[in-house]
Amino acid sequence: MKAIIFRSHGGVENLRYEDIPAPTPAADEVLIRVKAVSLNGFDPMILNGTTSLKTPFPMSPGGDFSGEIVALGSSVNNGIWKLGDRVCPYPYIEGRGMMGETLPGACRELVTMPAGNLLRMPEKLSFIDAAALPIAYGTARRMIETRGAIRSGEKVLILGATGGVGTCCVQLAAAAGAEVIACGSAEWKLGKLQQIGATHVIDTSQEDMLKVVYQKFGKPRYMGGGGVDVVVNYIGGNTWVPSLKALRHQGRLLVCGATAGYAPAEDLRYVWSFELQIIGSDGWTYEDQTELMNLVVQGKLKPVIHSARPLSETPQALQELMDRKVFGKSVLTMTD
Ligand SMILES: NC(=O)c1ccc[n+]([C@@H]2O[C@H](COP(=O)([O-])OP(=O)(O)OC[C@H]3O[C@@H](n4cnc5c(N)ncnc54)[C@H](OP(=O)(O)O)[C@@H]3O)[C@@H](O)[C@H]2O)c1
Repeated sequence: MKAIIFRSHGGVENLRYEDIPAPTPAADEVLIRVKAVSLNGFDPMILNGTTSLKTPFPMSPGGDFSGEIVALGSSVNNGIWKLGDRVCPYPYIEGRGMMGETLPGACRELVTMPAGNLLRMPEKLSFIDAAALPIAYGTARRMIETRGAIRSGEKVLILGATGGVGTCCVQLAAAAGAEVIACGSAEWKLGKLQQIGATHVIDTSQEDMLKVVYQKFGKPRYMGGGGVDVVVNYIGGNTWVPSLKALRHQGRLLVCGATAGYAPAEDLRYVWSFELQIIGSDGWTYEDQTELMNLVVQGKLKPVIHSARPLSETPQALQELMDRKVFGKSVLTMTD
């Protein structure tokens, strides 16, 4: 079978499009013919080797995927799962890890998966839309709805709003009735942010985020007024302290990652003086993923797809992600 493989850390030049042996499902697993797979912010980090996670070489990128069942392990209940069933698996396998991080990713024509991780795709959901959802959209849903409890009328400032998690945060916060202030690093991304629900946009390559927030909403005051209600920040690094300074008294800072550095400078004065809440959010549930698929077929959510192109073009797609030239999700598809 064809696969995108890397055997050591480095840049996209380490990626090979080659034939490798097809896997055989264990008793409790199914074999899935992959139809679409999407990339996430962690894929370049795993390829580059900049995380503390141990990479299982030979490795493939791609944590999210959709496909069709083509074989059942001997103990899989064939009353529930059948050949040809369309599935979008939950990519974290209990006790083994996350696909694309500590398990090989799905940039492969065939993938095995425990039957317990399978989620059935609604009939009208496309393989491409399904593959865009699990990690980024699941994480965004948990952060905006479950952990963040974003309410109608709240001012929500979203950093790195142009990525996979970010675009979905914009969509979900806007759907909840929030006034969304979305940050992107290039002019071409700003109009797209408005199209998916942002009320205000900030071009971080040209403008000082905090200055814009103060101009629009006023400087936060100890006794209330000014600033935004919520900041969504998975960038970390030098964006952390400005995020604290953008929040109103008793504002909330939601965090699920740290693309630009997990040990940023801190300013505790803002945390206590303004009684801020720092709220962590991690992962998502099977119910989140199911609900997201339903929202898409009901027409209430449209995954933001940057591009959908053949698996062999994974290196170009990963390079674009590294160069911050992506808006939404990059998807790779299989040609039968
Ligand atoms: N805890 C969890 O369960 C969980 C799950 C999924 C993701 N995450 C984390 O969430 C974050 C976003 O993931 P994603 O898949 O949405 O990534 P992504 O698609 O790469 O998007 C991240 C966005 O951040 C901005 N960005 C990229 N590099 C940056 C840098 N060095 N400094 C500042 N901004 C930068 C880019 O927007 P601009 O260029 O427009 O600024 C980019 O669109 C990552 O840190 C990831 O690890 C956590």
